[in-house]
Amino acid sequence: MKRSIDIKKITRPIIQKLNAYRSAREEFVGSSRKMILLDANENPFENGLNRYPDPLQNKLKQRLGKVKGVDPMNIFLGNGSDELINLLMVAFCEPKTDEIMIVPPTFGMYKFSADLNAVNVLEVPLLKGFQLNVNQILKQASTRTKMIFIPTPNNPSANRFPLQDLKKIVENFSGLVVIDEAYAEFSPGETAIDWLKEYQNVLVLQTFSKAQGIAGARVGMAFADSEIVEMLNKIKAPYNLNVLSQKAVFHRLDNADQVKKEVQLLLEYKKDFILKIKDINFIKTIFPSDANFILIRFDDSKLRYDQLIKKGILVRNPSDQYLCENTLRITLGTETENQALITAFKAMDQQN
Ligand SMILES: Cc1ncc(COP(=O)(O)O)c(C=O)c1O
Repeated sequence: MKRSIDIKKITRPIIQKLNAYRSAREEFVGSSRKMILLDANENPFENGLNRYPDPLQNKLKQRLGKVKGVDPMNIFLGNGSDELINLLMVAFCEPKTDEIMIVPPTFGMYKFSADLNAVNVLEVPLLKGFQLNVNQILKQASTRTKMIFIPTPNNPSANRFPLQDLKKIVENFSGLVVIDEAYAEFSPGETAIDWLKEYQNVLVLQTFSKAQGIAGARVGMAFADSEIVEMLNKIKAPYNLNVLSQKAVFHRLDNADQVKKEVQLLLEYKKDFILKIKDINFIKTIFPSDANFILIRFDDSKLRYDQLIKKGILVRNPSDQYLCENTLRITLGTETENQALITAFKAMDQQN
């Protein structure tokens, strides 16, 4: 039997009462009837962008539904996962009262978005080896904890969490578990999208910014129970996904083979990169990666970061985060870019 939760109960009262903004066109966009559009004060002369986008992105959701094997009713799209994370705070968390749970070291936008919305943040750090502390997560969750955000593969540590840990949290937490699969394409494994049939309290985030290669278009996807999708539709800005970005998604979906090829290449580059840097003396640990980036522990991450900057190479320094002392997070680039980094490391090694 499906594990259900009372979605109304976890939704803010003000949002439950809210009337959605409706454009006059909304009820006609899905129909085949050709209408003369004099409702939205647009410029009528065609240039490909003179009309507002479909507010509910129906055609795109039909297509994505087929690709992902889900009903379009279970899909919500936004201006990057960042917009989706913010809308989740608005929908479920009463400012200064409710809280979210995060599992540091983790993706920074969950806390940023919570802070922006005056939502409390409860931190349950990962265990050594970057594993979920499932017992503490369940123990510390209270009735005020509306959502738990878990990226898998995790950012910045790059590892996927075991499915049984995620399932245990989903099965025992009475709020919403947001499973952020931004990097899922870079490692094989079950997607939590498949759990939607069984669990109403799961929301899966995916994005077109990473493997799909169109970060500039800003397109994020949420897969969730239709009641949650309806509620997000009610609170979003009417035209939150612009025409150009929707076109960019269709284009990438039409070129799925190219996306696959790029993912394959990046995985090969990762293997090669690890082989070539493993004997560098100032590198202490290369953590296992299920993503398109690697977390590496150095002798002195600040020193190595500054040296790389001098050589014109920018990486991320997450050393102030829990369990990440003296680490740098390195994204795989093109073969040439990766080679430049390897050459820089070797030159720095010789200076030692
Ligand atoms: C775990 C995770 N989720 C989401 C995002 C952001 O995705 P988007 O570009 O769709 O806003 C990132 C980006 O770094 C990320 O690491």
